[in-house]
Amino acid sequence: SFEVRLARTGLICQVPAGRTVIEVLAAHGVEVPTSCEAGVCGTCLTRVLEGTPDHRDSFLTDTERAANDQFTPCCSRAISPVLLLDL
Ligand code: FES
Repeated sequence: SFEVRLARTGLICQVPAGRTVIEVLAAHGVEVPTSCEAGVCGTCLTRVLEGTPDHRDSFLTDTERAANDQFTPCCSRAISPVLLLDL
């Protein structure tokens, strides 16, 4: 599991194995727009302020992936213990 922190609201929540960031945020009343929920469309693309995403989408280019400043919370996870998101 890993922790997600939201920069704007201060919300901190834990994302357990088997649940997506989108699911956990929705459970806390934070709605991120989604469409495919499979890492294809980029609708859910969210800015990452701190931490390293574990990119599992097929939307971002290799260059965008390497920048680690955005990720797709419908399917991607974290390598670092904490992700700080621009939400
Ligand atoms: Fe399509 Fe996340 S909803 S990439």
